[in-house]
Amino acid sequence: MIELQGIVQSYGAVQALRGIDLAIAPGEVFGVIGKSGAGKSSLVRTINLLNRPTAGRVLVAGRDLTALAGRELREARRQIGVVFQHFNLLSSRTVRGNVALPLELAGVPSGEIRRRVDDLLALVGLSELADRYPAQISGGQKQRVGIARALANRPKVLLSDEATSALDPETTRSILALLQQIRRDFGLTIVLITHQMQVIKQIADRVAVLDAGQVVEQGAVLDLFTHPRQAITRSLIEDVVPQQLPESVVARVRALMAADDGPAQLLRLAFAGDDLGRPLLSDVIRRFGLDLNILHGQVDEVQGRPFGSLAVLARGAREQLAAATAALRDAGVRVQELPHA
Ligand SMILES: Nc1ncnc2c1ncn2[C@@H]1O[C@H](COP(=O)(O)OP(=O)(O)OP(=O)(O)O)[C@@H](O)[C@H]1O
Ligand SMILES: [Mg+2]
Repeated sequence: MIELQGIVQSYGAVQALRGIDLAIAPGEVFGVIGKSGAGKSSLVRTINLLNRPTAGRVLVAGRDLTALAGRELREARRQIGVVFQHFNLLSSRTVRGNVALPLELAGVPSGEIRRRVDDLLALVGLSELADRYPAQISGGQKQRVGIARALANRPKVLLSDEATSALDPETTRSILALLQQIRRDFGLTIVLITHQMQVIKQIADRVAVLDAGQVVEQGAVLDLFTHPRQAITRSLIEDVVPQQLPESVVARVRALMAADDGPAQLLRLAFAGDDLGRPLLSDVIRRFGLDLNILHGQVDEVQGRPFGSLAVLARGAREQLAAATAALRDAGVRVQELPHA
């Protein structure tokens, strides 16, 4: 649905995007995550050609937007709705007036505007507040107005640039649930820009990690959580999937190791999906005669699929430890030896 080919975006000497290639399928929620300054907003502005890329092509629904200009570009842009972090509502217009604006600009007849705005406000749950001004509604309600406005021209693509970053966790969940519902009901393709992995976890199908203007890693959300390859990805998923042991646990490990100087390994085991339904741990304990101390762990879910990680202290004969690690890896568990000194 969206194809970015070799996108470069320079602002004078600053190169904000350094050759981005992405292919986003129709109907998917595609997350783009990165730290501040990574180039996320530049990417959004490039997709809808608010910024013309310095090099590269942007294809939306098979059309090369970079080849369009003037009226053709304006019309193509109507297929792309945008939701902003700070809502960008007009304070002088009511809720209804804000949602009506893009329809007025597109020259839709006033009777139809009225009907469409009524439907949009019902969709986002704001029918009761239609005549209020932005200053008279909450942040979550403002974002609902922003979403209704973005949907007014019945776009095929919705770009969301940190749409929930100014909202509390509960309001964030309700806005993300609304986006899910819209995706389901209208088959919309959503590009979700965020610096919060929790947002990716809640609604994205796939995710790309942006760092210093480049995509350094991408894949299905569950794969990224269980098999992060880049250091930047591990740091970004830390608040969803802890990658490091708390200091208190490390202290306990030291005490346990000091109490017995036989061979031992501190391991982090990452499981996904079906692994959790199998008795993998009791199996390696039995087969390789190991002792396992479970030290720390967490189990979570992405789109109904469980995943988790466990830190264990494994003791046993050296070759049995190696064989157990190999057997776990063969079973699809990601095994990392953690430092504990
Ligand atoms: N109009 C501009 N002129 C010059 N430099 C810019 C401009 N817009 C962005 N930049 C620079 O481009 C880089 C990427 O900025 P961008 O706003 O895309 O990052 P971001 O990932 O959205 O960050 P944040 O999470 O803070 O919103 C930064 O180094 C920024 O300073
Ligand atoms: Mg930004």
